Amino acid sequence: MLQGKTIVLGVSGGIAVYKAVELLRLLTKAGADVHVIMTNNAQEFVTPLTFQTLSGNRVNTELFNLYQEQEIGHISLADRADLFVLAPATANLIGKIAHGLADDLLTTTVMATKAPVLIVPAMNTNMYENPIYQRNEKYLAEHGYHILDPADGALACGWNGKGKLPAPESIFSTVDALLTPKDLYGCRVLVTAGPTREEIDPVRYLSNYSSGKMGFAVAEVAQKRGAEVVLIAGPTSLNVPAGVRFVPVTSAAQMGTAVLEYYADMDVVIKAAAVADYRLTARAEQKLKKTADQMTLELEKNPDILAELGEDKEKQILVGFAAETENLLAHAAAKLRKKNLDLIVANDITHEGGGFDVDTNIVRFLHPDGRVEKLEKMSKHQVAEQLLNRVNDFRNAVKTD
Ligand code: PMT
Repeated sequence: MLQGKTIVLGVSGGIAVYKAVELLRLLTKAGADVHVIMTNNAQEFVTPLTFQTLSGNRVNTELFNLYQEQEIGHISLADRADLFVLAPATANLIGKIAHGLADDLLTTTVMATKAPVLIVPAMNTNMYENPIYQRNEKYLAEHGYHILDPADGALACGWNGKGKLPAPESIFSTVDALLTPKDLYGCRVLVTAGPTREEIDPVRYLSNYSSGKMGFAVAEVAQKRGAEVVLIAGPTSLNVPAGVRFVPVTSAAQMGTAVLEYYADMDVVIKAAAVADYRLTARAEQKLKKTADQMTLELEKNPDILAELGEDKEKQILVGFAAETENLLAHAAAKLRKKNLDLIVANDITHEGGGFDVDTNIVRFLHPDGRVEKLEKMSKHQVAEQLLNRVNDFRNAVKTD
């Protein structure tokens, strides 16, 4: 994800330094080349050796160290970085940067860089609320520094309030978002996800095994790449990706109404939801009683939302999904044609690691001209990346027509 990116992780002194170790692990795992600079105070909490071992790079600590300077050089680091991350950033570090002070390796390198800088403050609540600190932070934000707000909670100093370093995963997502090119900027994307539920009576329903993971991954990646995203989802237990407009629904009928409400304004629609094809002809008002030995439920067809969108298609790029247990390509190709789609993602759900309620997927992209692209098994986020690359190809092709 961060392959080929050079990140300078600036660590200043505070109890949260141990969380910077976990952040470093996440960054290197994602493929980033991370160079750590520690202040003297940071080294009181965790030794440079820990960061050095995990980053695979020499940890830089001193401004006037001939060996370090010759090996990497603070100006060279400042030039090479794609991003600076200061985590934890103390009130002292932020105050120095805001006032143009460069009296150690970290502040000097930060001042010398033209790369974006993400500041992740961590400090005592009273320090955080101090108007002098707030003024410094505001000043830096006004000058293009990115600030990730501290979290609320119990602080090491015994206070409870704002000032905790956010979870390393949350800092990692911010880093990832900052380093992601915004190639879908200005594009409005509607995504559907999850199952739908068709009520039988007040306590029972018909549904399927969709977890929503595939659709939520598409929504998250599209938002990260700069799109304006509306996510319409049936019942799931997933967290809504930040920055996405979320519309929860339950039944296929509700999903249809919500999709049609947004459709006209959308540039792209990606229907990853597993929509129930049938619903009860009549939902029972009261809980059904166990009387007869056998029971028959009468079902009627739900409207096919995607087929309706295909009929009314104007400028929109329409992408469908198909989860099949047999004749994958034939069934998916038939849906592509019938629903007037620009692409269909065929899921092979007979293989382990593909389809419902897993983090990976095994898919093929079927194009209207008959092309079939077979993708390796990969995470649903990687499938989403690939899918959105194809969407961008369509957008660029339309622009150059
Ligand atoms: O949610 P996960 O656990 O991550 O699982 C992901 C998934 C397997 C559910 C997803 O990747 C997927 O394949 N979704 C489509 C499931 C399917 O087989 O749909 P379908 O063949 O019934 O429908 C084809 C397309 O028409 C789909 O895009 C569907 O959203 C759409 N459709 C279907 C019926 C209907 N009444 N209205 C629709 O819009």
